[in-house]
Amino acid sequence: MKITKAVIPAAGLGTRVLPASKAVPKEMLNIVDKPAIQYLVEECAASGITDILIITNRGKGVIEDHFDYAYELEDNLRRSPAKADLLKSVHDVANLANIYYLRQKETKGLGHAILAAEHFVGDEPFAILYGDDIIMTTGEQKPVTQQLIDAFNATGKCVCGVQTCTEEQVMKYCTLDVTHIHGNVYDVHKIIEKPTKEQIYSYFSILGRNVVTPDVFDLIRNTAPNPVTGEVYFSEALSNFAEAGKLAAVEFEGKRFDMGSKLGIMQANCETALQHPEIGEAFRAYLKELAKTL
Ligand code: UTP
Repeated sequence: MKITKAVIPAAGLGTRVLPASKAVPKEMLNIVDKPAIQYLVEECAASGITDILIITNRGKGVIEDHFDYAYELEDNLRRSPAKADLLKSVHDVANLANIYYLRQKETKGLGHAILAAEHFVGDEPFAILYGDDIIMTTGEQKPVTQQLIDAFNATGKCVCGVQTCTEEQVMKYCTLDVTHIHGNVYDVHKIIEKPTKEQIYSYFSILGRNVVTPDVFDLIRNTAPNPVTGEVYFSEALSNFAEAGKLAAVEFEGKRFDMGSKLGIMQANCETALQHPEIGEAFRAYLKELAKTL
C-alpha cells in the first residue's frame, strides 16, 4: 500500500532547550545550514510522502515562512549568477511536499497533538515523525520513514521505529515488551511510558517514527491524560494496539539525534558538519586541533 500522508507534531514548548527555543521553535534550530524540520520534510519526500500536516502553535509561524517562497530574497539571489545554487536551495524547499498547518491550541502532549490530525488523515494509514527527532541515514540506507512503510506493508500491522537506548533514556522515553519475528522486526505486546527501573521490559524505545492506521485516533481519545503532567501520552495509545496484537517494532537503520536536548543539538551539528561538502574538511581540522587541548 502506498502511504502518502505524514503528520509532524511540532507544537511542544521545548523547555529543555530554553532560552534558545523562546522565540525560535526548537524544530527551526539549525543543523549546520538547514533547520531541523527541513530534514524531516526531506525524509518524507524521499519516502514517497506527498502531503504533510505540521502541528504548530503560537509563535511557530516561521516554520510556514521556511516552506514558502521568499520573493524578495529569491529576486535578489536571481540577479547574481554566482548565487544560482543558493537560489535553488532556497526555492526548492517550498516544493518538497504539499504542507498544511494546524495549531494545537493547548500544549497537552504528543497524543493530543496527533489527535488534531484526524480530519487531515481521513481513512488512510499515515506516518508520524516527531518534530525534534532527526534520523540521518547514509547513502545505502533507506530513509527511516520508508523503512517503516516497508515493514507496515510486510507485516500488515502498525509499526513503530525503535532503537536500543540507555537505561536513563528508556526511563525518560518508554520501554517495549517485544518478541522477535525476523530480521529487524519485532512483535510488540505492551509499552510503558516513562517506566521505573523495575518496569523496564527491554531497552528498546520508540525514537520518533510511527506508521499507523486511523483507528489510532479512537485509542488516543480513550487515553486518559497523565494525572501529574496533564499530557496525553501517545505511547499509551499505541500500547492498546500492541495489546491487541496489532503493533510491530522495526529496529531501524540510521543515527538519531534528539534536537530537543542541548547535547543532541551539538551532536547533530558536529556530525553533519564533518560530512558537509563545503566545511567538512576545515571542521575536521579544527576538531583535531581542539582535541589536542582537551
Ligand atoms: P517532546 O516532549 O520531546 O517535546 O515531544 P516538548 O514538550 O517540546 O519537550 P520539552 O520537555 O518541553 O523540552 C516530542 C514532539 O512532540 C511535539 C514536540 O514539538 C516534539 O516535536 N509536541 C509535544 C507537540 O506537538 N505537542 C505537545 O503538546 C507536546
